[in-house]
Amino acid sequence: MDLFTPIQLGYYTLPNRVIMAPLTRCRAGAGNVPTALNVNYYAQRASAGLIISEASQVSQQGMGYPATPGIHSSEQIAGWKLVTEAVHQQGGRIFLQLWHVGRSSHSSFQPGGALPVAPSAIAIDGELLTYEGMKPYETPRALERHEISGIVEQFRQGAENALEAGFDGVEIHGANGYLLDQFLRDGANKRTDDYGGSIENRARLHLEVTEAVVGVWGNNRVGIRLSPSSTFNSMSDSNPEATFGYVVEQLNHFDLAYLHLLEPSESDLRHGGQAVPTAYFRPIYQGNLMANWDYDQAKANAAIASGNADLISFGKAFIANPDLPERFKLNAPLNPPNPDTFYGGGEQGYTDYPTLKELQLA
Ligand SMILES: Cc1cc2nc3c(=O)[nH]c(=O)nc-3n(C[C@H](O)[C@H](O)[C@H](O)COP(=O)(O)O)c2cc1C
Repeated sequence: MDLFTPIQLGYYTLPNRVIMAPLTRCRAGAGNVPTALNVNYYAQRASAGLIISEASQVSQQGMGYPATPGIHSSEQIAGWKLVTEAVHQQGGRIFLQLWHVGRSSHSSFQPGGALPVAPSAIAIDGELLTYEGMKPYETPRALERHEISGIVEQFRQGAENALEAGFDGVEIHGANGYLLDQFLRDGANKRTDDYGGSIENRARLHLEVTEAVVGVWGNNRVGIRLSPSSTFNSMSDSNPEATFGYVVEQLNHFDLAYLHLLEPSESDLRHGGQAVPTAYFRPIYQGNLMANWDYDQAKANAAIASGNADLISFGKAFIANPDLPERFKLNAPLNPPNPDTFYGGGEQGYTDYPTLKELQLA
């Protein structure tokens, strides 16, 4: 078994296991609506076994970066519809990543200039990019107990909107220090109600959101992403093996299309993160495991052959190589990604990376 062994992923049979990781590119148009440029970018990458879209906020409150697409207005749904149609025309499949950033936002993005919301009033260290340049993170407002059902409803509505936009499924963004992850880990969650304290309480929002999203899509068109070792966005947990072990074990009950896990990175370990690799979860999780972080083709094939992962997602390699599966198949060299054009801008560094065929014709 390797990256080119077809796999049943929930409802879908994927022709390969080379998955496009979710990648924020900050190139949505006015009103956070996907544009023709975004349509072209995703259509170029349709040979992925599955595309997972860039994170897309389920509400204005859930937004935290300039020019990220939303999935909460009729214009955004219409914009995404053009993306999903183009990917389908090219024979691909695309899931939308459902996102609420929580405290990783700024009042200038928030409705009425309000403070960002979070489980507890604890700020992220450092600065974030706003429309007016870099600004320090603000101390967020702790959500009231009675507001939490509204957060679940935002995800449920986002899932319904993704269905209307013609996606093939959705991935719940439970990773990288955004709202669901903030509830899960005790470095960011100091609540004393039934959404804080014990692991069961901290995991409650994740599981309620999963239930709501599965209620819209059915279990076999839903995935979820977790980052057990990540310290990004000032995240920490006193016992990540126990915290994430519990959530992953609970997720078994949903029989989702897949569980998407970020491996520990060198930066996480430098920042005091405790390494909890995907292999730790293999005996706990009964479904498809998708692994991510710094994989190349050889490492990906080894992970699949050993049974530690079923699929591998690729981020930066897909930014720079629209035809990544074909390049892997032919053992062809890869275009290097340019980090200067990751976030924002136009087609440069976005839709102008050449395919092998284009290089051969040049
Ligand atoms: C430009 C950029 C944007 C990203 N945006 C997202 C995102 O929207 N959602 C998410 O879950 N992860 C996001 N990530 C993380 C990637 O999905 C992936 O975990 C990371 O790039 C490591 O994989 P790689 O080593 O194959 O690049 C982003 C990473 C990069 C470089």
